Amino acid sequence: MSQAHDAQQAHEGPIKTPKQLVLTVVASFAIPILIIVLLIVYVSNGAKKGAGSDAMTEEAIAARIQPVGALTLNVSTGSGVARTGEEVYKAVCSGCHAAGTLNAPKFGDAGAWGPRIATGFDALLHSALNGKNAMPAKGGASDLSELEVARAVVYMANDAGAKFPEPKAPAEAASAAQ
Ligand code: HEC
Repeated sequence: MSQAHDAQQAHEGPIKTPKQLVLTVVASFAIPILIIVLLIVYVSNGAKKGAGSDAMTEEAIAARIQPVGALTLNVSTGSGVARTGEEVYKAVCSGCHAAGTLNAPKFGDAGAWGPRIATGFDALLHSALNGKNAMPAKGGASDLSELEVARAVVYMANDAGAKFPEPKAPAEAASAAQ
């Protein structure tokens, strides 16, 4: 008799009232769902590695597989567009030609430029590209393209009274081939 009573006790478990039963049923649904929701949040917040994530964009792949030490090409034309004569003048040539430093022919000084302009554009360009006395080759900015130097020469010379035509891009191709 007492054995049967023990067996009944063992089957009773912790749930003793209907309220506890309801709570247990609700909890047995809610807790797994909460865990799943938390797992989804955890997975979607973490660094995504699979297809469809940022990790598989071309940039990300290129960044991962790039060799050690990137090579940066110093292209003289910067944005890929040759600078205008005015831009080159302001960036480089004005260093001397604005004030006439080192006896450079001053910008806009027709008297100083006149005899030089008379030698012709090609002679001036030759001086600007290769240097002349205190005038350094390409004004010291060796990254300038031939076209950019030519434009700067035209910009300065024309301001001092010359009527040189704008240099054309083929000079650029020629300098790129050097
Ligand atoms: C470091 C100073 C300096 C800078 C920078 C400079 N020049 Fe000059 N430039 C001179 C001097 C000095 C002369 C006069 C050279 C001479 O005739 O003895 C000169 C002369 C020239 C002449 C006349 C050459 C001739 O045959 O008479 C041209 C054209 C010229 N520069 C173009 C340029 C251009 C284009 C730039 C910019 C890309 C530039 N220079 C930047 C100092 C400079």
